[in-house]
Formats: sequence, structure tokens, C-alpha cells
Amino acid sequence: MPADLNGRNTLFGGRLVAWIDEESYIYATCQLDTRDIATVYIGDFQFHSPAASGDIVEIGVEATRFGTTSLEMKAEARNKTTKKLICSCSKIVMVTLDAAGNKIPHGKTRIKSDAEEQMVDRSV
Ligand SMILES: CC(C)(COP(=O)(O)OP(=O)(O)OC[C@H]1O[C@@H](n2cnc3c(N)ncnc32)[C@H](O)[C@@H]1OP(=O)(O)O)[C@@H](O)C(=O)NCCC(=O)NCCS
Repeated sequence: MPADLNGRNTLFGGRLVAWIDEESYIYATCQLDTRDIATVYIGDFQFHSPAASGDIVEIGVEATRFGTTSLEMKAEARNKTTKKLICSCSKIVMVTLDAAGNKIPHGKTRIKSDAEEQMVDRSV
């Protein structure tokens, strides 16, 4: 989409940061079983190669640490068209919140297995 492109007609880096934040939020909701989650930190972005209009972009997120109220993750954006790494983000932190917006413990300690994910999918 033109709105996603910079002056060189490649993907705007800020758009990718927003997509990674969004994808991390979706991943965190699945891991922590709540939608009441806020981003508190996104850092250490490295842009490795560009993506052109029409390229297919894949974003991968993985938990790196389960805290008491927080979940730390890392993320990568890959160009499925050129087969190159577009960007990596070594640390994203999201925190679980109560109805008043205060941090609360999430009670999770490890990444859900594929089997656990499928059980959740079937119960929806
Ligand atoms: C989320 C919020 C309620 C947290 O409140 P707080 O009292 O400042 O919380 P803390 O500083 O104790 O941090 C909470 C957790 O995040 C972790 N954390 C915060 N900043 C971190 C950082 N830079 N790196 C790693 N972990 C971090 C803390 O270690 C703590 O983890 P733990 O409970 O698992 O040990 C508050 O920061 C807030 O409302 N921020 C704005 C959120 C927001 O609007 N985001 C943008 C839109 S989603």
C-alpha cells in the first residue's frame, strides 16, 4: 500500500514497528489468556534489508522471559519474496493490567505448547 512506503518506495520502518507491536500484542494475548495487556518497552530494532511494494512480509514473535506481570519477547520480520531478514527486535515487553490499568500478575511461567494452543482453538 502506498501509505506503507517511504520515499524510495520500500516499506516504511515505522510501519513495520507498528506491525511488530500489533503482532506481539496478539502473541501475548494468546500466551497470557487476556486482552488487558499494554506495551511498556520496545527496543533494539535493527533493519537489515528492504521490502518492496508487493513483497510478502512475515512477522515472527517468541517469548524470551515470563516475569510476574510482564512478558518479554523478541521478533523478526522476514521477506518471503527475497528470502531475506528485514528487521529484528531483540526486546518487547508487555504487561498485564487490571480494569483500572494497574499491573497485575499473569500467573504464566512458560510458552504454551502447540497442543495447549489447539485445545484453546477448539474450545472457542
Ligand atoms: C503498564 C504500567 C501500568 C506498568 O506500571 P509500573 O508500575 O510502571 O510497572 P513496573 O515499572 O513495575 O513494570 C512492570 C513490569 O514490566 C517490566 N518492565 C518495565 N519496563 C521494562 C523494561 N524496559 N525492560 C524490561 N522489563 C520492563 C518490569 O520489570 C515489571 O515486570 P515484572 O512485574 O514481571 O517483574 C505503566 O507503565 C503504564 O501504564 N504504561 C503505559 C502503557 C501504555 O500506554 N502503552 C502504550 C499503549 S499499549
